[in-house]
Amino acid sequence: MTVRPVSPKALDGEEKLEQSLRPATFGEYVGQEKIVENVKVYAQAARRRGEALDHVLLSGPPGLGKTSMAHILARELGVALHVTSGPALVKKGDLAGLLTALAPRDILFIDEIHRLAPAVEEALYPAMEDFRFDVVLGAGIGAQTMEMKLERFTLIGATTRTGLLAAPLRDRFPIQERLDYYAAAELEEIARRAAAKLALPTEAAGLGNLAARARGTPRIAIRLLQRARDFAEVEGDGTLTREIVDRTLTRLGVDEKGLDAMDRRILAAILDTFGGGPVGIDAVAAAVGEEGGTIEDVYEPFLVREGYLARTPRGRTALPAAYAHLGRSRPRGGQGELL
Ligand SMILES: Nc1ncnc2c1ncn2[C@@H]1O[C@H](COP(=O)(O)OP(=O)(O)O)[C@@H](O)[C@H]1O
Ligand SMILES: [Mg+2]
Repeated sequence: MTVRPVSPKALDGEEKLEQSLRPATFGEYVGQEKIVENVKVYAQAARRRGEALDHVLLSGPPGLGKTSMAHILARELGVALHVTSGPALVKKGDLAGLLTALAPRDILFIDEIHRLAPAVEEALYPAMEDFRFDVVLGAGIGAQTMEMKLERFTLIGATTRTGLLAAPLRDRFPIQERLDYYAAAELEEIARRAAAKLALPTEAAGLGNLAARARGTPRIAIRLLQRARDFAEVEGDGTLTREIVDRTLTRLGVDEKGLDAMDRRILAAILDTFGGGPVGIDAVAAAVGEEGGTIEDVYEPFLVREGYLARTPRGRTALPAAYAHLGRSRPRGGQGELL
């Protein structure tokens, strides 16, 4: 698999560095003000009452700070954070092991909670609601259910796809917050702080250049910063300047709007091969040599959000911004004109 510099998901081996750059307190957590203000109040109230925080569901695209927020909440509450993920909980027993290990008020963090196996999800309901876990002993007619009492704990679920969450699960989270993409100024601040932690000298124009191309996503801003740091140290004088960022992103194939080669290939195919659309996702997939599902999940969200592409019932249609960005003139009276 090729490494995609603007992937919002963590690449292999990135976990460790991310942890060292992760904001440790709400004071270091940039942006998402409304959410931060709310959860701070909930955490403070729970702490004063000596109770576990209510269960929290954090949703939003990858790389926007869901895991970071869970870590900060644990720290704020002075409790331990136990981390797992939907796909890691294969059997009911995997969940039982985690739940019974929780101390009072601890946080269980389940990443990608939309990917829980049905049996595990079902076992989670009584745990969330009544802090109990039902164990079935034996099988068939002689089977008996034994109730295990759990400590009162907080479940923090994170998901990139709220739509895939079953309503009974979603409804069991009294606190639900949706994280949104970051403004360029916020990404600039995140990059500035990360650079300081890395002891990397920066120029404001360099940080601004980088933030504008990070697709609204802190994880991408931090990754681009690391690559720019390499270029600054090897090919520059060690400072992150506008020119160094330009050079880095050119080498990575990321253009001034944050699009990479595949993003541009998708737009070019729709414009040049399919007359601007509407065209079905499978036809686009065949034209660019990428899987339809991957295009939908990984590439399209950014292109749609930035107004290059529209998803219509009849297929994908290129919008005026796509023509402008790729330097194509729009056909008179064509789809691009109508939309
Ligand atoms: N609000 C923020 N302020 C500062 N850094 C952030 C923020 N959100 C995310 N980051 C940075 O981006 C990286 C990815 O964030 P993470 O919490 O792992 O995202 P998610 O869990 O939503 O995929 C973190 O390591 C952190 O350094
Ligand atoms: Mg995460």
